[in-house]
Amino acid sequence: MKIIYHGHSFLEVFSKDYSILIDPFITGNPVCDISKDDIKKCDYIILTHGHGDHYGDTDFLAQKFNATVLAIYELAVFASKRGLKTHELNIGGGYNFPFGRVKLTPAYHSSSTIEGGYAGDPAGILLYIEGKTIYHAGDTSLFEDMKTIGETNKVDVAFLPIGDNYTMGVDDAVKAAEYIGAETVIPIHYNTFDLIKSDEKEFCRKIESIGKKCKILKPGEQIEL
Ligand code: NI
Ligand code: MN
Repeated sequence: MKIIYHGHSFLEVFSKDYSILIDPFITGNPVCDISKDDIKKCDYIILTHGHGDHYGDTDFLAQKFNATVLAIYELAVFASKRGLKTHELNIGGGYNFPFGRVKLTPAYHSSSTIEGGYAGDPAGILLYIEGKTIYHAGDTSLFEDMKTIGETNKVDVAFLPIGDNYTMGVDDAVKAAEYIGAETVIPIHYNTFDLIKSDEKEFCRKIESIGKKCKILKPGEQIEL
């Protein structure tokens, strides 16, 4: 399996048979390395929450590929009313999809739809796929229940926001990595805009000082699992 980082919180996960997009923010994303027409396959889209920098190009891509949108109940209802195929989940609930299992975790943040309406609670994502466990924290502060995620999962790779202002900054994200116990940590949600400029190298030094691996992915770069 490979996971390509496209900047901000947008990941493209390719398993053997499926392509899964997480938070596909392409249009208006100044650090994204692709345009929406470059996506050639999309079977599922998983959304952490409704904010525009995460919902992104979901309408276009879900319609073009007839992809299923996975999101918390209220956001799934919103997407469904826009004509998209959806699967609703809620916090703490998982479901076995053809590509693997998705479980939503808590995230401490806010949420609204791109029209400003109620979008339910924000979430993080646990993705169990091809024997690996991937955690995408979504937009969140540090919170102590991340310990529970670590205690109940052997997380192979954790994608954690480090941009500060809207989410955790570097030091809180280092603490989050400690709580989650992930083997490898990859910073996301930084340097997209001036407000979330962050020092990813400092983050990696601090992650390595607690005995974990850190990998910086530039937009367009990938990891193989
Ligand atoms: Ni947000
Ligand atoms: Mn965000």
